[in-house]
Amino acid sequence: MSNRVIVFDTTLRDGEQSPGASLNVFEKFEIARQLVKLNVDVIEAGFPVSSPAQFEAVQRISGELDVVVAGLARAKEIDVKSAYDALHEAKKFRIHTFSSTSDIHILGKFGDDRYGKTLKEKRKTIIKMSYDAVAYAKTFTEDVEFSAEDAGRTDLGYLSEVIEAAIEAGATTVNIPDTTGYTFPSEFGAKIAELKKRVKNIDKAIISVHCHDDLGLAVANSLSGIENGARQVECTINGIGERAGNASLEEIVMALKVRKDLVKYFTKIKTEEIFNTSKMVSSFTGIIVQPNKALVGENAFAHESGIHQDGMLKNRQTYEIMTPESVGVNKTKIVLGRHSGRHGLKSRLKELGYSISEKELHQVYDKFVALADKKKEVFDDDLRIMMGDQVVDKKDEFFELEYLHVSMGTNSIPTATVRIKSKEIVLQESATGDGAVDACFNAIERALDLKPQLESYNVRSVTSGRQAMGEVIVRLREKEHSFTGRGISTDVIEASAKAYIQALNQQQVYLRMIKEEKLLDHSLSDLSQAV
Ligand code: KIV
Ligand code: ZN
Repeated sequence: MSNRVIVFDTTLRDGEQSPGASLNVFEKFEIARQLVKLNVDVIEAGFPVSSPAQFEAVQRISGELDVVVAGLARAKEIDVKSAYDALHEAKKFRIHTFSSTSDIHILGKFGDDRYGKTLKEKRKTIIKMSYDAVAYAKTFTEDVEFSAEDAGRTDLGYLSEVIEAAIEAGATTVNIPDTTGYTFPSEFGAKIAELKKRVKNIDKAIISVHCHDDLGLAVANSLSGIENGARQVECTINGIGERAGNASLEEIVMALKVRKDLVKYFTKIKTEEIFNTSKMVSSFTGIIVQPNKALVGENAFAHESGIHQDGMLKNRQTYEIMTPESVGVNKTKIVLGRHSGRHGLKSRLKELGYSISEKELHQVYDKFVALADKKKEVFDDDLRIMMGDQVVDKKDEFFELEYLHVSMGTNSIPTATVRIKSKEIVLQESATGDGAVDACFNAIERALDLKPQLESYNVRSVTSGRQAMGEVIVRLREKEHSFTGRGISTDVIEASAKAYIQALNQQQVYLRMIKEEKLLDHSLSDLSQAV
């Protein structure tokens, strides 16, 4: 058995299921392009049957990039067919189908009598459904992955039966997810080792692990899985994902690299691309990386205390087990300014992982000049933020902010006036509020005649200095769905208005899809429960 570990990145599927992280097709494509640079083996680009946007993202990524792209599908014909339809133009693709296997999941999700009256009968049905889904996927491609959802809490005997059936039907990868992040590393590792012993045809498939971080053990569990025979690891950049997230790609990869004295397993990840990828995912999803996050956090390579600094000056290895450069952290700051030309901008953006066409360069350059005028010195983080703001799917723009004026002071009532373009109509309104942001939101609501439910509002400074860029994330709620908008500006009031309008745009896209019956609204809660 080879010691190479296949890296299956699910940032764009499981990662995108992080609360509030909704990525549009353009953003997903940019991230996918960066994942190719990082040299991941497989990109799981989405869950095609769940929405037209997911379908489109899988289709675009698999059609344009030279990498194995996977699409997720429940163990149902309609899902498998939809995954194939989204993937079929790819050079290399994988259909990833899954079924629940733990008793808790089976009883909760397959309670209906049509799946069998007793648990025993239901378990049999699941085996048949899994077998059939894999066999059906196999009619489209050689490369089929099967996942036993909630395997971490599945009885070992039954899990072995399901996995054996999936391999018999043709699965080439069998994934063992710890869906609820419940297991301990020793327990999870033992499960993998036992499966290797019990499943008769296990040599015909690659064992994969997919761990969630509910107890903070996702990376430890993944490593334990690898040590016990898994040769594929499913993970996300920055560890983003459902609830507490998934195992972090960068932590697994660097643990194997830094401790190669201890373990013989390796990946083919270009670790110098880790930092750029982390930054891009954070800026597009709006999910902030905690400062003390291993490898990619702001403080990961900072040495504050005198004793540490002294030690570092004498010998870096005193407190550093790897260099910042090995994960792509470059301590020399390159600064651009208003006199930097198009060529300089383009090549710096390229180094940061953004490939833009000549056509796009015009638009990006105008934005850069406006920013450089305001900020004078433009740092890498400013550029990243600017690019995050740049990638907006124009066809998803129902509303566009044309004009904003806010007046406020210590002894006056904050008042805002907005002008918003909605298709060909221009709407203008003014309103007062408790503060400038509130006045702004009131004016927007009045102009659009909408009263959305604001779930959360967050503002932070994303770059440094007095002219720092402010980022605002607004989340709106409509029944069980939330819609996120992100706005960036050196002015936080303007950023707030942009974020609010972007969230409203997301909401409108969703409502339009429901109306056009492109979204399986009735099955959405079903789908979200399912993964
Ligand atoms: O966590 C999980 O079980 C999943 C599966 C769909 C692989 O995400
Ligand atoms: Zn998962």
